[in-house]
Amino acid sequence: MDAILIKGGNRLNGEVRISGAKNAALPMLAASLLVGGKFCFENVPELKDIESILQLISYMGAEVERRDRSVSIDTRDLNNIEAPYEIVRKMRASVLVLGPLVARLKRARVSLPGGCAIGARPINMHMDGLSRLGAKITLEHGYVEAEASELTGNEIFFDVPTVTGTENLMMAAALAKGTTVIRNAAKEPEIAALAEMLNRMGADISGAGSPVITIKGVDKLSSVSARIIPDRIETGTYMVAAALTGGTIRINEAEPEHLKAIISKLRETGAKVDVETNSITVTGGQPIRSVDIKTLPYPGFPTDMQAQFMVLMSVANGLSIISETIFENRFIHVLELQRMGAEIEVSGNNAMVRGVEKLSGAPVMASDLRASASLVLAGLVAEGTTRINRVYHLDRGYESIEHKFGGLGANIRRVPENAAPDSTA
Ligand code: EPU
Repeated sequence: MDAILIKGGNRLNGEVRISGAKNAALPMLAASLLVGGKFCFENVPELKDIESILQLISYMGAEVERRDRSVSIDTRDLNNIEAPYEIVRKMRASVLVLGPLVARLKRARVSLPGGCAIGARPINMHMDGLSRLGAKITLEHGYVEAEASELTGNEIFFDVPTVTGTENLMMAAALAKGTTVIRNAAKEPEIAALAEMLNRMGADISGAGSPVITIKGVDKLSSVSARIIPDRIETGTYMVAAALTGGTIRINEAEPEHLKAIISKLRETGAKVDVETNSITVTGGQPIRSVDIKTLPYPGFPTDMQAQFMVLMSVANGLSIISETIFENRFIHVLELQRMGAEIEVSGNNAMVRGVEKLSGAPVMASDLRASASLVLAGLVAEGTTRINRVYHLDRGYESIEHKFGGLGANIRRVPENAAPDSTA
């Protein structure tokens, strides 16, 4: 397995292009299972998680062809209704095939994902929602089985907004008989992007992006072409990199509308943020001011940016309280950041971060995707060399991260895990 070596201290400057959003691409690719036809997707990021969902879709019998960032999927001949443990364990979002398969093939069998590094992450609301639509749900041998000769629209109320749960239910309800209303739905831009695609396929969905989504079931859907929206978390990560290193980065092919919480917080820290239609330019300011952060469902501050912001606060001037309200165990990066000299104290779901003058490079271990990104950011400002092991997490969600940061002037490179650390990263 590869590692990333970074020699910190370079101010990052220049331009970077944002890739398609992983978390928009995953449900949109899964939506191709809803109807037999030829789909074409553009701006699909080259990531391990995308490989996993495509592997799953072809495991169902679809023909998948990938050329750079274009993916075509022919879903006319599906012959499998099972998402096996081997694929689901690599990527929890595999559960996104559940809704489309039950809606189209009347049956699905999906391995339960189990716990993961950032928390328990159950899928009870996906299952309860599907049973509200009339599916019979059973749990056996570690698999969820859902069966329904016909799905029927109903009212669904989520206890907490669930992103993939909302997506799964929207896809299933698109082909149900009658009307489904999802209340306390997740409002993330990825949900609006999926609804837009489903509506072009012939679905009748309104309210996506708001807490109440109404889905009037239709008899028939058809295949379409779709373009993946820009990745707002990748964008936020490069924005933090500019603020952190005191450089100026112009981030192109971004969607500033999706980044309001991050733009606002970064400005509070003293960074200069200039917004144009499809680009954001961030210039770091000194000193970095401490701000408090509380992660919340969209449009609040995203949990997927919590670890990256924590790095910024680690070298800020003062004290910052970071509260994680979405996942119960999303502070694993703290132990690694402490090894790099950060002063952070965790108490329950709050982290108290006291800014220090300098972080210092160290060998660290990536534990989940966003934690890994935070370690890269920390490495960029740390004194000396940081070696990030287990970078497969990064490859799940950041396209060409070492090339993108390298292009901005970072001293960063990928090496085989067992290569000896050296001074020229
Ligand atoms: N939850 C339940 N039961 C359920 C579903 C969710 O209790 O049936 C809980 C979760 O445990 C969590 C909260 O509800 O405490 C919200 O979880 P949600 O279902 O919204 O998360 P998700 O759909 O599994 C997506 C993203 C995550 C992102 C979260 C929160 C995708 C593929 N994944 O996960 O992205 O952190 O929403 O915004 O869209 C990442 O990209 O690194 C990542 C983890």
